[in-house]
Amino acid sequence: MARILVAGAGAIGSVFGGLLAHSGHDVTLLGRAAHMQAVKRRGLVVDGIWGRYHCWKLEAVTAPVDCGTSFDAVLVTVKSYDTPVIAEVAAQKVCADGQVISLQNGLGNLEVLARHIDPRRLFGGRVIFGARMVEPGAVEVTVCAEPVRIGPYVPAEQKSKAAAQQWASIFTEAGIRTEVCDSIEAELWAKAFYNAALNPLGALLGCNYGWLAENLDTRAIMNGVIEEAFAVAVAEKVPLRWASAEAYRAEFYSSLVPRTAAHRSSMLQDLEQGKRTEVDAINGEVWRRGERHGVPTPLNALLTRLIRAATARSQKRVGGP
Ligand SMILES: NC(=O)c1ccc[n+]([C@@H]2O[C@H](COP(=O)([O-])OP(=O)(O)OC[C@H]3O[C@@H](n4cnc5c(N)ncnc54)[C@H](OP(=O)(O)O)[C@@H]3O)[C@@H](O)[C@H]2O)c1
Repeated sequence: MARILVAGAGAIGSVFGGLLAHSGHDVTLLGRAAHMQAVKRRGLVVDGIWGRYHCWKLEAVTAPVDCGTSFDAVLVTVKSYDTPVIAEVAAQKVCADGQVISLQNGLGNLEVLARHIDPRRLFGGRVIFGARMVEPGAVEVTVCAEPVRIGPYVPAEQKSKAAAQQWASIFTEAGIRTEVCDSIEAELWAKAFYNAALNPLGALLGCNYGWLAENLDTRAIMNGVIEEAFAVAVAEKVPLRWASAEAYRAEFYSSLVPRTAAHRSSMLQDLEQGKRTEVDAINGEVWRRGERHGVPTPLNALLTRLIRAATARSQKRVGGP
């Protein structure tokens, strides 16, 4: 039995935390008050395409001071803009030979975490199933394109490879199919291609991923977004599995999008609720890194600016910050 802290128990963190607790691990959720109070009162419900689980045996806290220390693993499941704050929490809470595993989207999260945590104990997970908060105390798994892939931040470390294998087995036994990958950097870049193409357009147009692939105009924009991001990844010497952007796009349209066609971008929900989005860690990071390498990324820059503007408008409407 492992002691696991879920740092940022929203949609994804609650799915991991709930299923790990259900399979017998000692799980603590660190999250916001309404959700944590509901979990304390009624347990956590994880519903959706993987079945319905009612998980009782977990701790739910709202402040790091309330959750002890020496966790075998800290799962980082906050949005990217919260990574700097949660990195300090993870560093304090993980035990001396434990692991910190980022299950986030976006580029740069592992680099931020590595400023606080020994890089040899740092892991990334590429998550390509969908989850949403239904109400406080309840989350739903909506779609799943592929198993989770997990890998060490420092791939050459033998001990890290063994730890990645151990966590992949623990997640899989809990019902979240997980594989170890050769390069988590490559997997996270590939997920960034997917997110950069689908999330901002899905949020701006208020449609699901399937519609974006069917419409010729949005398809043309997504082709360009992927082309740019692929060129930046090549400039960064990322060991991608595809020889060209075209080869990635073939898999994107034939496999990844069909399996997540019904999914609506979480960026859309963020805009509807007047919340911040992760666009700066996705299209914005492609744009920023492109500038560093002299690779033009006009479409990623445009989408970043459009989402920032839409965020400003929705925050004014909702009365947020
Ligand atoms: N949802 C999906 O389908 C999906 C799929 C694949 C990958 N991902 C990635 O997984 C990550 C998490 O996504 P998500 O959809 O699960 O986000 P989410 O529902 O917003 O969950 C994050 C939770 O952490 C909370 N939080 C932030 N800082 C905290 C702190 N210091 N202490 C306690 N709680 C804190 C947030 O509260 P506030 O909102 O109040 O700040 C929020 O409730 C993102 O990088 C996302 O891109 C998501």
